[in-house]
Amino acid sequence: MSYRRQNRAAWNRLAEQQSQFTHVATDEECHDPLGTLDARGWLPKSVHGMDVLCLAAGGGWQSVLYASAGAKVTVVDISPSMLRLDEREASRRNLEIRTIEGSMDDLSMLRDESFHIVHQPVSTCYVPNIAAVYGEIARVSRDGGLYISQHKQPTSLQITHRDAEDRYVIGTEYYREGPLPRAADTSYRETGAAEFLHRWDELVGELCRAGYVLEDLREPFRADPQAAPGHFRHRGRFTAPYVRLKARRLARNDVTEESTGIWTP
Ligand SMILES: C[S@@+](CC[C@H](N)C(=O)[O-])C[C@H]1O[C@@H](n2cnc3c(N)ncnc32)[C@H](O)[C@@H]1O
Repeated sequence: MSYRRQNRAAWNRLAEQQSQFTHVATDEECHDPLGTLDARGWLPKSVHGMDVLCLAAGGGWQSVLYASAGAKVTVVDISPSMLRLDEREASRRNLEIRTIEGSMDDLSMLRDESFHIVHQPVSTCYVPNIAAVYGEIARVSRDGGLYISQHKQPTSLQITHRDAEDRYVIGTEYYREGPLPRAADTSYRETGAAEFLHRWDELVGELCRAGYVLEDLREPFRADPQAAPGHFRHRGRFTAPYVRLKARRLARNDVTEESTGIWTP
């Protein structure tokens, strides 16, 4: 499992360097935790008392906001340094948060059907097999449970560099195995991490086949018409880097061969 070792080390390093992903929830954000977490209105009006899994969400942002809103929060993350931020911020605010060091593609430490909400920020790119992640999420979610997630889009991950005319070059094949090669254009990539491209068939198709229905899909806007070539917002004018999914766990009784698309003629 070398990708786990490599990504644990990379994220420990990013946490220690206080990268942009270690932005912890502020007092102001904690005053309106659901509004902060959920500008799109995907969450229920209240999450009070709900069991929420913040998956691969270390760093003291999602966990603190959900706990501020009264949810019972578990954070699973591979990086102990990222989890330390959740623990530090929770204790500073007198909030209770359970932290578990583990990999998103093996949640065997968590019981079946134990969460109302699973919230996963950008992170599925750090494992080779997204179906394993979805299988675990489907197992630990209750019937009707919500899955809110953000992922890197495959086209963006295929970009390797900018040419002399400031066009972005798709230098990596779509149908591929193994970690992505290093790229000269490092926008939307994390230094030192092993990252994997997941095709749309996997990002969305595997989720449906795991027993979810998609309720909404958004592409966070990262384009700036004023941005200069080389800036990540310039690249964002050409291709959307992320996709956000809102999906609902089908009731186990409703998961038929037809609803999952797994049926044999
Ligand atoms: C982009 S950060 C997300 C955290 C941040 N709170 C945010 O709002 O974006 C991605 C997280 O994924 C974690 N991660 C990477 N590989 C993982 C794996 N195999 N299992 C669980 N977490 C993993 C990293 O340690 C990191 O905390």
